[in-house]
Amino acid sequence: MDIRTILIIGAGTMGRQIAMSCALGGYTTILQDISGSALDAARTDLESWADGRVAKGKLQAEFADAALARLSQSTELDASAAQADLVIEAAVERLDIKRSIFAELGKNAPAHAILATNSSTLASSHLAEASGRASQVCNMHFFNPALVMKCVEIVRNEQTSDETIQAVTAVARALGKEPVLVNREIPGFIANRMMGAMQREALNLASAEVASITDIDTTARTALGHPMGPFELMDLVGLDVIDFIAQATYAETGQALDQPHPLITQKVTEGKLGRKSGEGFYEYRR
Ligand SMILES: NC(=O)c1ccc[n+]([C@@H]2O[C@H](COP(=O)([O-])OP(=O)(O)OC[C@H]3O[C@@H](n4cnc5c(N)ncnc54)[C@H](O)[C@@H]3O)[C@@H](O)[C@H]2O)c1
Repeated sequence: MDIRTILIIGAGTMGRQIAMSCALGGYTTILQDISGSALDAARTDLESWADGRVAKGKLQAEFADAALARLSQSTELDASAAQADLVIEAAVERLDIKRSIFAELGKNAPAHAILATNSSTLASSHLAEASGRASQVCNMHFFNPALVMKCVEIVRNEQTSDETIQAVTAVARALGKEPVLVNREIPGFIANRMMGAMQREALNLASAEVASITDIDTTARTALGHPMGPFELMDLVGLDVIDFIAQATYAETGQALDQPHPLITQKVTEGKLGRKSGEGFYEYRR
């Protein structure tokens, strides 16, 4: 399948960097958001990112300029959808909003267009029906920061066709990513499941006072070769985000193991959300 134009929906943390990856990959790229100010902020952010890369000699100025020229922005969903061969939806994590976006895409995108969602917690089967083209729907899950992280989890739902998987895999490769295929929908996909298991065990060890959080983090770094310990990572991600993911996973699986850990709930109740609030498992100077 010939994919030339990619529409990214949502110009937030993820959408803007996915859009720039697509533009750098040579695709005509449209970044759409309901908020004009989010689009303006994304443009400023990406221009300064490109300037920084050029200044460091990691990106040629002409290459950066050509990518930015391939990247347009719009607040109009329907008109943008009409031009897209592939849509990657990275709007806010709300099922009702994503469903209405997929319904609009189903009506306005060309019949051949593939519709992917970057959602971390919502499986594409929740959106497939609204789109009216279930075989052309899947998750295409990028990692933060999307301009840096190589992994893209491609998750098929029961109706996703082989052609859809082949096409999005080829696009991910063309962006310089390393796509991995998740054969069926499972909360957390691969990476967040493995990370969740690690965090759960770390939280259990700390709760049982087997070791201090500092020593658990040190062990992860010095024995397992992880770049940071589980508590450092949770503070970086945000303990409210960790709590939200656990709640969404538990709502889907109903398994006690997936419930938010009491240590996390306690921190969130105390307003200790990690780096962003100045304190989580560790204290941070502002
Ligand atoms: N932040 C992460 O680390 C991360 C990592 C992987 C995947 N994700 C997923 O990416 C998606 C976006 O997350 P984010 O962190 O970039 O969110 P964000 O809050 O930074 O950005 C969301 C953007 O969506 C826009 N938006 C809201 N409603 C819209 C609509 N109807 N149409 C178009 N745009 C709309 C908002 O204006 C905002 O700019 C979520 O589905 C999330 O699960 C996030």
